[in-house]
This record gives sequence, C-alpha cells and structure tokens, in this order.
Amino acid sequence: MKPKSYSPTQTDAWAKLQSHANLAENLSIVSLFDADLTRASSYSVKAGELFLDYSKNLVNDEIWQTLLCLAEQSPLQEHRTAMFAGEPINTTENRAVLHGALRAEPTDANSEDESQRIDLAKQQLQAVRAVSDKIRNGQWLGSTGKAITDVVNIGIGGSDLGPKLAVNALHEYSHPSISLHFISNVDGAEILTTLRGLNPETTLIAVASKTFTTAETLLNAKTAIHWFEQTLGLENAQTSSHFIGLTANPSNALAYGIQAQHILEFAEWVGGRYSLWSSIGLSIAISIGFEHYSDMLAGARDMDLHFKQAPLAQNMPVIMALLGIWYSNFLQAETIAVIPYCERLLLLPSYLQQLDMESNGKATTLTGEAVNYDTGPILWGQTGTNGQHAFFQLLHQGTRQVPIDFIAAAHDGLSNNEHHRVLLGNMLAQSAALMTGQAAPEGQQHRYYPGNKPSNTLLLKELSPKNFGALIALYEHKVFVQGSIWNINSFDQWGVELGKKMANELLSENPVNGEFDPSTNALFTYIADNS
Ligand code: F6P
Repeated sequence: MKPKSYSPTQTDAWAKLQSHANLAENLSIVSLFDADLTRASSYSVKAGELFLDYSKNLVNDEIWQTLLCLAEQSPLQEHRTAMFAGEPINTTENRAVLHGALRAEPTDANSEDESQRIDLAKQQLQAVRAVSDKIRNGQWLGSTGKAITDVVNIGIGGSDLGPKLAVNALHEYSHPSISLHFISNVDGAEILTTLRGLNPETTLIAVASKTFTTAETLLNAKTAIHWFEQTLGLENAQTSSHFIGLTANPSNALAYGIQAQHILEFAEWVGGRYSLWSSIGLSIAISIGFEHYSDMLAGARDMDLHFKQAPLAQNMPVIMALLGIWYSNFLQAETIAVIPYCERLLLLPSYLQQLDMESNGKATTLTGEAVNYDTGPILWGQTGTNGQHAFFQLLHQGTRQVPIDFIAAAHDGLSNNEHHRVLLGNMLAQSAALMTGQAAPEGQQHRYYPGNKPSNTLLLKELSPKNFGALIALYEHKVFVQGSIWNINSFDQWGVELGKKMANELLSENPVNGEFDPSTNALFTYIADNS
C-alpha cells in the first residue's frame, strides 16, 4: 500500500460534518429518543458476546450517515486489507503490523505468506504452552530444585501493560498457588519491595522486552540478578532456570546470558503495544492456563473477523471510532473517559492509554505533512463506582465535553446478585442521568444538571477470557480506524525517543551539565546536592 495524498478535511463528508456540528448545539439526545422509538435498538450492535449501545450519543440519523460516509471516503478499507495482508503499513519503520496473525487460524489465510506467518505464530505459542504448563504443573524447578510459586514479569509499556491487565482481569481463572508480579517502573522501590517479599528459590523472572534494549527493563533485570546472588549465592542468575526471556530479539537475550531454551521468541512484526498475544503473554498463560489464554486469542480473532467482515454501519470498532472522531474533530472534546464497572478492569484505562495515545498521538500524515486537524484524544478513566465519588462531579456539572465509554459484564461469576445489581444499577443510573440532566429548583442553580452528555455502554456477557480478548481487539481496531481516517501512522512511536536520548545524556558518566537548559541544569544540581 503506497500512502496516498489524502486529507480527511478534503472529503465531502468532513465539510458536511462541520455544518452539522454548527447546529449540534440544538441537538438533544432525549429528543432524539422521543422522535424515534426504535433508537435504542437501531443504535446498538452485537459482536459475539459483546453488546454496544451507542444510542446515548449526540448524533441524529443524518450525522450518523455522514460519519459513515467519512469512513467510506477515507482509506480505511484499503488500510485494513493492507494490514491483514502483511503490507508494511508502519511506513516509518517499514514494518508489517500483524498482531492479527497471532490469533488467526490457518483457514483465515489468503496467501502462502499469511499461512506461513500463522504457522510461525502457532509454533511460537506452542513454546509458550510448553513452558507455562511446566511452570503450572510444578515441573519447572529453580536452582535448588523447588517448584515455582512466584513469577515476576519485568517489562514496560506493551511488555507490561497488556499482561498485567489480562492477569488482573481474568483473576477468576488464576492458578491457585502461583502468584504473578509485574515490575515496570525503574523506581527501585517497586522492585526492591516486591523482591523482599519473595522466596528466591521459588521465584522465576520473565524479562519481557521486544527489543531487549529497554533501559528500565534491563536495570530492573540487573537488580533481580543481583538479588539471586545476594540471597542464593547464585552467580550470573540470568543463565539459570530462574530467568526466561520473552523477546523478538533473541540474539540480545542470548548475549545477556539467558539460555537459548529459556528464550521465547516472537516475530518482529508484532508491535510492542500489541504483544500480549505473543510470547509476551507468558505470564497470562501461567496465570490462567494455556487453554484459557487460547480462548482469549480466539475472542480477539472473532473480533478480527467481525472487523474484516461486518458492513461499516454494523462494525463495532468502526462505530466507536466514528463517534470518537465526531467528538474530537467536530465537537471539540479533548478527552475520552473509559469507565469500567468492574474492579478487575481497573487497569484497562492505563492499558488503553498506551494503545490509543502511543498509536494516535501524532501530528504528521502518512505522506509526511503536518496535520491541520486534531488526532488522538487524551484517554483517561477509573472504575465505577469509585469514579462516581471522585470525578463524576465534573462529568455532570463541569464545563467540558467528555464522551464516556461505560463497560461492564452482565454476569459476574466472582460477585453475587446483590453486589452486581447495585454495581450495574449505578452504571445505568449514571449514563441516564448524564443524558437526561435535571432542571434546578427555583433559586438553586447549583443543582442544575445540564444533561445531554454522551456515552456508549459496552456490555460483555461475562468477563471470560474470550470476551476479554474480544474487548481488547475491539479497542485495537477502533484505534486503527481512527488512525486511517486521520491518515497517520498508528504503529510507530517516535515521540518517545527524544526523552530517552536526553535521559541517557543526562545520566552518562560525564553528564554534559551546561549543555541542558538552565532550568534542567539547576534541577539536576539540586538533586545531586540533596540526594
Ligand atoms: O515506549 C516505547 C516502547 O517502545 C513501547 O512501544 C514498548 O511497548 C515499550 O517501549 C517497551 O519496549 P520493549 O518491549 O522493547 O522493551
């Protein structure tokens, strides 16, 4: 796929949406329901065991049809075909984007190349199965011959967020006697405190890094190596059975000292923030078992098929992406809130922050021009009902437009009827109250709720591995659709490079003090004097 000269702002649909936006002030979601008794059902869509109600949005039929035209007039469908076919759509790194191949079945292949990639992914996942089974069955032994009770995943970004979220979300399925720990921050207090509570004889470290060069991860791994030396007298612990490497760069892991048979490889065409489906997912497989991990992949595949096959108007990722574009580009919403009514999805907003903001926080088009429209929104969130007692005040009565995704499981096997009824009742009450608002009693303007605040409600039948997989793939594709419409490369992350480079300079043996700006130099000196 050769990037074309295209700008969303030059499409007919964009111009029409701008004129719709000028009139949107007069739109009332409640009136839209009054005018169309079928709205709740016509503005909803099902994909597998996920149900999306998007009827509480500031869109009428005309706006909705124009948004769909925008999707049609954009390169979305061409990009989608190119992505699944393995074309190098990550143009700045000349890389294919094939996390879909990690969860595909051989029958999904449309070419010999696709078929080979699916085979490779299956082989690599078999290695994950073998290792995770051995650990779960107590056959993987530490250096003193004891079975593993604690696994510490050391990684950051995509090598941490996805596995950590999945292990938490799927806690219902977790192994009864193996605990998972996640270390990402280079803040020593995190790793030192965690290791202090563990028995080194029964601890396994999984060093998760696509590149095996990430400074934070390597420093944390070094601290873990040192801990084994101090506690067990084990020299070069990275060469022992206490260390596994998860990487797309096996030569770096080997050079680090990890044994070849302890390295679980994945392909370079798996982006870091999409790597929970690859061997980076080892910690998930250890926690919930390979069968459940496979179910998670199967759920993601179902969403891939839905994304590839459903018409745009019934395509859940497309629908969510278009609504996001409507709010970001036409109604000036700067942020989007994701509010799961499920404590096990507490980490979903931080996971989505990387997925969305690292993917679409870009200002250069695929053809190298500066964009003249907004791209990725600021994503934030917290679980309900906790958020209700924190930031919901602003959502109800503040001055900012914040579209919301409410997410919940209709049934929760870990909860009970009373709790679950109250939890979901709260979610439904919030989305209804945000939409309907309420007039202020005479002389009490502070009790005015303007209402007309938009939200989606996404219901999973239950938080099973399969539905969790589908949920994550849904957001992956939503972000992809938006990137295609905005004509940006959603798969690189050059924005993180400069800070890394400057940190290296600042921390080098001979810091180039004096070469940084005066504020940074002064802060550096203050820390040096006070540490
Ligand atoms: O933050 C930049 C980034 O490259 C992410 O995209 C990635 O998930 C993270 O760093 C970790 O990289 P690695 O897996 O190579 O250690």
